[in-house]
Amino acid sequence: MTECYIEDIGKHVGEQVTLKGWVYNSRSSGKVKFIIFRDGTGMIQAVLAKGETPEEDFAKFDQLTQESSIIISGPIKEEPRAEGGYEMMVKKLEIVQVSTDYPITPKEHSTGFLMANRHLWLRSTRQYHILRVRNEIIQAIRQYFYERGYVLIDTPILTGSIGEGASTLFETQYFDLGKAYLAQTGQLYLEAACMSHGKVYCFGPTFRAEKSKTRRHLTEFWMIEAEVAYLDLACDMDLQEDMLCYVVEWVLEKASEHLVALERDVMPLLSVKKPFHRISYDEAVQKLQGAGSQIQWGNDLGGEDETILTKMYDRPIFVYNYPRDAKAFYMKRNPENPKTVLCADLLAPEGYGEIIGGSQREDNYDYLVEAIQRYNLPLEPFGWYLDLRKYGSVPHSGFGLGVERTVAWLCGLPHLRETIPFARTLYRLYP
Ligand code: 4AD
Ligand code: MG
Repeated sequence: MTECYIEDIGKHVGEQVTLKGWVYNSRSSGKVKFIIFRDGTGMIQAVLAKGETPEEDFAKFDQLTQESSIIISGPIKEEPRAEGGYEMMVKKLEIVQVSTDYPITPKEHSTGFLMANRHLWLRSTRQYHILRVRNEIIQAIRQYFYERGYVLIDTPILTGSIGEGASTLFETQYFDLGKAYLAQTGQLYLEAACMSHGKVYCFGPTFRAEKSKTRRHLTEFWMIEAEVAYLDLACDMDLQEDMLCYVVEWVLEKASEHLVALERDVMPLLSVKKPFHRISYDEAVQKLQGAGSQIQWGNDLGGEDETILTKMYDRPIFVYNYPRDAKAFYMKRNPENPKTVLCADLLAPEGYGEIIGGSQREDNYDYLVEAIQRYNLPLEPFGWYLDLRKYGSVPHSGFGLGVERTVAWLCGLPHLRETIPFARTLYRLYP
């Protein structure tokens, strides 16, 4: 008998097939028994009926519990009333293992309980669909860069040079060489690589010892970063805009089934079209103060501020040229106002806020030395980074997109914890 996956079941109508998977749910009405069966690619209704299913296999139904692993075989027919639109009449049922007392039952559970059982919670439909959307987002971005000739550069996870700032570092002793840090970003290494390849990107886990508990922060998250030589901030924003429109279109096309299952209203996603709004930090502060925010010129935008701002617009917005003291050391000073830097954050609509941080990089050797010192960072570990400003320095820019925040936005989720298979937060290291 042909073995297949439920995702391909439509090609096997009228044939006998074998499916390997798990019992999602089951019910019985006398002589007919139903299994909602899942195999990792979808769900199908499997029917056991007296007279149709051999006696011995029919009897096995009584042993089945939620998440028992089973192998079933039988003919497939279309059944519009069943989940997924198809149905199997079971002619053979093999029990691989009977699962006992599966902890996640169809009743309501607290989030804490579900997170503690994340290794099992992954099997629930909602979680299944979220990770399928995540998969498409990542694939879209890889494809976007590949099609445009960007070279993937794998940047190190263990680093000696602080990438973003000293306040959120995870550190470890590195043999006799002193402290090593878990990478907060791959950017500094991308800057080196873009001087060789012109257009580069990286995609990897990044780490921030975020000591506050917020719905927008994880201690380990995945970031896609790009870096381009001879690119200024305005063109950097063009690039981000173009990439994001590509990703949203891809997800709407390839993951619509999952968005529907998540009950994501796709109307707001349909208006993610170029051009995005671009407002200066100064304007943003004025608008926010007008809307009752306590923000003062000089502060970074808080999560609340971003929420207020994005609710004023129907599509993503760039906020550019922040005060230098609110941002990282590597950003290029604004020649028109040295108190600000040439940077932009991209805020996602519907209250989601920052999903991308980007900037033009300081390409002047002396200004960069001064910036490193102003941030009280040691100069020596940045020797190699400063070299890039000595040997053919050019204007260059890039950005980093937080994968989990993008997943949260596109799926319409309030919290980052469900956007990554195993979330790492202040209070969670298991499972
Ligand atoms: O704004 P950030 O800190 O920028 C950088 O790391 C730059 N080096 C990127 C670059 O220019 N190459 O982080 C970029 C994005 C944020 O916009 C956010 O989406 C995400 O990374 N992010 C986090 N996501 C989850 N948890 C955290 N603790 C995050 N910190 C940043
Ligand atoms: Mg940022």
